[in-house]
Amino acid sequence: MNIKLKELKPRDFSTDYFQWINNNKVMQFTSFENKKTTRKNIINYIKSNYTDKHNYLFGIYYQNKHIGNIKAGNINYNHKTCELSYFLGDLENRRKGIMYKSIIRLIDQLHKSKKLLKFTAYTYAINKPSIKLLTKIGFKIEGRLKRHHNYNGKRRDILIFSYLKN
Ligand SMILES: CC(C)(COP(=O)(O)OP(=O)(O)OC[C@H]1O[C@@H](n2cnc3c(N)ncnc32)[C@H](O)[C@@H]1OP(=O)(O)O)[C@@H](O)C(=O)NCCC(=O)NCCS
Repeated sequence: MNIKLKELKPRDFSTDYFQWINNNKVMQFTSFENKKTTRKNIINYIKSNYTDKHNYLFGIYYQNKHIGNIKAGNINYNHKTCELSYFLGDLENRRKGIMYKSIIRLIDQLHKSKKLLKFTAYTYAINKPSIKLLTKIGFKIEGRLKRHHNYNGKRRDILIFSYLKN
């Protein structure tokens, strides 16, 4: 499977990227859901990650086409931890194992290059695809933040998943 991860630069912004971020069907269960974002905001977001060594934003490229993102955020070099967030923007390429392979690859990459050991992901307790994905990779539930976020008019629980590299 021809999957590549590439750190995003402002020039990697595209119309596809703009459409994913503004499409609720794509961004369901993420912090971008129910928000409208401008081209300028997205480019500034890419730029701010690109210039910050505590946040790395990667594009997932499949057959040389940008189809989604993974972010390693809040990197703590002292404790060797980071928080992962992700979406697969191109709906036609969902359910092909692309995010599964991309997360495993990113963990290996950050372990080798930045010596990171512990990877955490926050997910809505109702986000079954994400929970199944993380569990399949080997993430374990470490906690539950009860009624922590507003989602579709209700307070929702957030699950904290972690993966410890050994
Ligand atoms: C969650 C998401 C990233 C999965 O990406 P993907 O590339 O389609 O996932 P994969 O094909 O790698 O699937 C790996 C495993 O995840 C689980 N999974 C993925 N999508 C699923 C779905 N729609 N329903 C049930 N399980 C699902 C399965 O266990 C799957 O393994 P299997 O195919 O052997 O059963 C994608 O649905 C998405 O972008 N969702 C919206 C954004 C989001 O929820 N991000 C997480 C916020 S923390």
